[in-house]
Amino acid sequence: NLFCVLAASGYLMGITQSKEYAEPEWYADIWLVLVWVTYFLIYIRTLQRRKEPHIYVANWYYMAFILVVAVLHIVNNLAVPISFGEVKSYSLFSGVQDAMTQWWYGHNAVAFFLTSGFLGMMYYYLPKRAGRPIYSYRLSIISFWGITFMYMWVGSHHLHYTALPQWVQTLGMTFSVVLLVPSWASAGNALATLNGAWGKVRDDATLRFMMVAAVFYGLSTFEGSFMAIRAVNSLSHYTDWTVGHVHAGALGWVAMITFGSLYALVPWMWKVERMYSPKLIEVHFWLALAGTVIYVFAMWNSGIIQGLMWRTYNDSGTLAYSFIDSLVAMHPYYIARTVGGLLFLLGAIVASYNVWMTIRMSRSQAAAAAGDSDLPALQGAALQAGE
Ligand code: HEM
Repeated sequence: NLFCVLAASGYLMGITQSKEYAEPEWYADIWLVLVWVTYFLIYIRTLQRRKEPHIYVANWYYMAFILVVAVLHIVNNLAVPISFGEVKSYSLFSGVQDAMTQWWYGHNAVAFFLTSGFLGMMYYYLPKRAGRPIYSYRLSIISFWGITFMYMWVGSHHLHYTALPQWVQTLGMTFSVVLLVPSWASAGNALATLNGAWGKVRDDATLRFMMVAAVFYGLSTFEGSFMAIRAVNSLSHYTDWTVGHVHAGALGWVAMITFGSLYALVPWMWKVERMYSPKLIEVHFWLALAGTVIYVFAMWNSGIIQGLMWRTYNDSGTLAYSFIDSLVAMHPYYIARTVGGLLFLLGAIVASYNVWMTIRMSRSQAAAAAGDSDLPALQGAALQAGE
């Protein structure tokens, strides 16, 4: 929390080292290292104290998330402050090396901050909720090493058509395409696990959240590998297509697996049989799905239109459209984007209410057990699928 205060107050005061996803200056960065290393130690000590000899694959993904984020953060933020009394610092890297280090960090932040930990959640909660073992444990390990190794090389696809040497761009592009294999192995493994449990997927919105997350994971990684191809990137870069890709990942994959996992976790943590309202989970599911689909489709359309308008020339060799023309063409898509975003937000509000009421329900049950309740306790509630 102190890091968040340091980072946010820095933004407000214009203190930044101008690196995307790594804006805070050196004093905040050092504090984050301390916090993160403590987090890692707690995690490792917890693993050490396990009773089970085997370490299930979800924990591998989770450990990679903590460890790699630490390495990325430390290397990308290597900088020399002007003095210990000044907020300004200078990066150890300069020019194109700085750009490459930044995007090695930036893309691996996608891989390990926005993917690895969430894959850990998927590998744990999805089989648990479906009541089935993971389809192929061996495949899950192969995908783990696949993404861990390959993601490290792909950062340069963010720097196509720049001063970065052509061969480094090609290297990033090639690894990005090959990265599709371990990414789809995970998505396929999750979906194949649901074979024999599709009835549960139909009846249980919590499991459906997880299923849709796996689908969006497959979709956004396919799209990412495609956008990393230099010729495709020449159209998509700087446009809303990238924004559409980001949100297919962030809303469709990251948020959906989080919602599914939360709905599985909250009743366990507060020791109640189920969430306060399964109907509200259903409402949330459809709001989140509709919101994401509307948002992502709007951004795909506007991105491709932008890209095409910006590269259309007249016979005389000048640009056919001004920037303002392209902005006017975006108008309907930005309205659709707002609608999609609002639906998604509404879903999250419904989820917060449901979680809040589940916690209250748990308290009222505890109070009822002690013979004193002001809330209707959940009596005889049926178990949800997967419980
Ligand atoms: C195989 C996996 C993936 C590959 C190869 C990939 C590739 C790409 C490419 C080529 C871009 C556009 C770069 C540009 O033109 O500037 C991009 C942007 C981005 N992707 Fe992915 N992507 C993958 C998966 C994901 C996932 C799962 C997420 C999120 C959860 C994600 C989040 C992002 C973000 C946040 C950006 C915007 C970066 C920026 O600030 O410019 N990506 N990705």
